[in-house]
Amino acid sequence: MTKKLNVGLIGYGFMGRTHSNAYCKVNHFFDMAYKPVLKVICGLDEKEAKAFSEKWGYESYTTDWKKVIEDDDIDLVDICVPNNVHAEVAIAAAKAGKAIFCEKPLALDGAQAKKMVDAVEKAGVANFVSFNYRRVPAVTLAKMLIDEGRLGKIFHYRANFLQDWTISANVPQGGMATWRLDVKAAGSGVTGDLLAHCIDTAMWQNGQIDSVSAVTETFIKKRMHVETGKVEDVGIDDACTFICRFDNGSLGNFESTRYARGHKALYTFEINGEKASIAWDLHDLHRLSYFDHADESIVRGWRSVHVTDGDMPYMDKWWVPGLQIGYEHTFVHQLADFLEGLDKGEPASPTFRDALATQYVCDAVLASAKDKQWKTIKKA
Ligand SMILES: NC(=O)c1ccc[n+]([C@@H]2O[C@H](COP(=O)([O-])OP(=O)(O)OC[C@H]3O[C@@H](n4cnc5c(N)ncnc54)[C@H](O)[C@@H]3O)[C@@H](O)[C@H]2O)c1
Repeated sequence: MTKKLNVGLIGYGFMGRTHSNAYCKVNHFFDMAYKPVLKVICGLDEKEAKAFSEKWGYESYTTDWKKVIEDDDIDLVDICVPNNVHAEVAIAAAKAGKAIFCEKPLALDGAQAKKMVDAVEKAGVANFVSFNYRRVPAVTLAKMLIDEGRLGKIFHYRANFLQDWTISANVPQGGMATWRLDVKAAGSGVTGDLLAHCIDTAMWQNGQIDSVSAVTETFIKKRMHVETGKVEDVGIDDACTFICRFDNGSLGNFESTRYARGHKALYTFEINGEKASIAWDLHDLHRLSYFDHADESIVRGWRSVHVTDGDMPYMDKWWVPGLQIGYEHTFVHQLADFLEGLDKGEPASPTFRDALATQYVCDAVLASAKDKQWKTIKKA
């Protein structure tokens, strides 16, 4: 029997669209006990909220997120607003007994994230954070291969997330999308925005990070603020590089920047083990590069696995072998896993507590860059 899950989605921007698309698609491709119902969309501008509700099929719209929380009819609150709004909405939603789906990073910093974890755990409500790259089939496959022991002991984990969209000094801070450059709205720059994804995936695949040493830079130190109209100091990190040690003894090397001319969203990782290595590239997301030292030497080399067969993660739900899927599907996959967890009473990961672990790494990275010291990571 299908159970209805009434959704109130807060934020109709970039992520509001990816999540709405996932709600529309999930029951067409996955056999689920739950069926999301698009009840209400919320955002800052009334005209835009109305237009969004009509385009995506929401039953109503509002500009006041508190109305979404107060509505007894809403089962799930989905938070797709800038980072500085996450905590207030999530804590209120938890107190109201709603299930919560929240965009990443969970909060502005670890202290705020901890309050959110306490709130959802005290209320006993389902909670999930949208680190969607885990659900790229090739990335999930990489995790499976590691868990099967195919790589053997892991020595190295390296990841990059490179962009180039803030190189111009004319890009402002504050406002729609460019709130990412305003430290009060974002909490940090590339560390929370981009490296948080890399850290989440890395700890999921390779275990907890023990300690970090980092360097950050803010290349453009003053930008016009959209809300005040004044040129103000920039408080975010434009670029961040850190090295780390994992609990399992392997070494990590992470880099992120918005100043890598020519790169729009180049997320890559490579993992080197005793027996095999794995590499992945978001620009070719349906392929997993794999090197197996056990292969006969005359044919040994990096192979490019086309992750489209029905026995590969999530792929039996889509088309036929050989036909690939893309970015939007990661949001459908995480929603399907979340709904299944809700049905079985077994929370899907990453939960708020998992995301707190990532937030603590981000905090340590920023603290290390500030005082040029190694930092040990607080356990979530
Ligand atoms: N998972 C990912 O890969 C990914 C990608 C992009 C963004 N994000 C995260 O998603 C969140 C939203 O980012 P985005 O790119 O969609 O932003 P956006 O600027 O495109 O949209 C933000 C939305 O929030 C609404 N909003 C802002 N303040 C509000 C308030 N007080 N009350 C109600 N609505 C409010 C705005 O009206 C707008 O609709 C952020 O936390 C961001 O880090 C995650």
